[in-house]
Amino acid sequence: MLAKKIAAEAAVEFVQSGMTVGLGTGSTAYYAIHKIAERVKEGLHIRTVASSRQSEELALQLGIPVVPLSGIQEIDVSIDGADEVDANYNLIKGGGGALLREKILAAHSKQFVVIADESKQVDRLGKFPLPVEIVPFAFNLTLLKLKALGCEPVVRIADGNTFISDNGNYIVDCAFGTIEDPAALEQQINAIPGVVENGLFTGMASAVIIGYEDGTTRRTD
Ligand code: A5P
Repeated sequence: MLAKKIAAEAAVEFVQSGMTVGLGTGSTAYYAIHKIAERVKEGLHIRTVASSRQSEELALQLGIPVVPLSGIQEIDVSIDGADEVDANYNLIKGGGGALLREKILAAHSKQFVVIADESKQVDRLGKFPLPVEIVPFAFNLTLLKLKALGCEPVVRIADGNTFISDNGNYIVDCAFGTIEDPAALEQQINAIPGVVENGLFTGMASAVIIGYEDGTTRRTD
């Protein structure tokens, strides 16, 4: 997993003392959180907000100061992974089920730095089923509306039970195939009553850092 690690470590160069930093979720963000912890031990003075309980616990274990998002006006930089990154830096996120909090952090960040290994790059989004967070109430009706948009929605199961997000909701994985217009679809899905948020992040990334297994990175911003 060298590619994820080096992309994550390159992104941590965006972090400077005095900043409020958004912590992403997932196996690539994991490396970023570890690198941030290293720098905190060396004297970096920051506060962070976390996009999931998992990342919050990891940060606290590693000695990174984590504060509640409720006390924050603006985030200087958020660093997070992605499941797919297209040629225009639109993303599919939510493979780990944290898309709602991730999108909230990204939307309030001056800089949103996306980190990914080379396997996440695609010409067009859609091979990875799009995660959509929905409220459990009347979820079957919400699934019908999602289906009408042209996908095959599947309620996510984990360890034999319905997966429940940090916000108490379901995640539905929606296989659309190639997504022709990610920005339009992002809006259409969010217009369905019962949908809380979806994992299309269009026009949000301010920088993308791709890591390669040969030890190199490519940065676009
Ligand atoms: C978590 O909900 C996701 O959005 C992750 O950021 C995304 O799935 C990428 O995860 P990995 O870094 O583990 O591939």
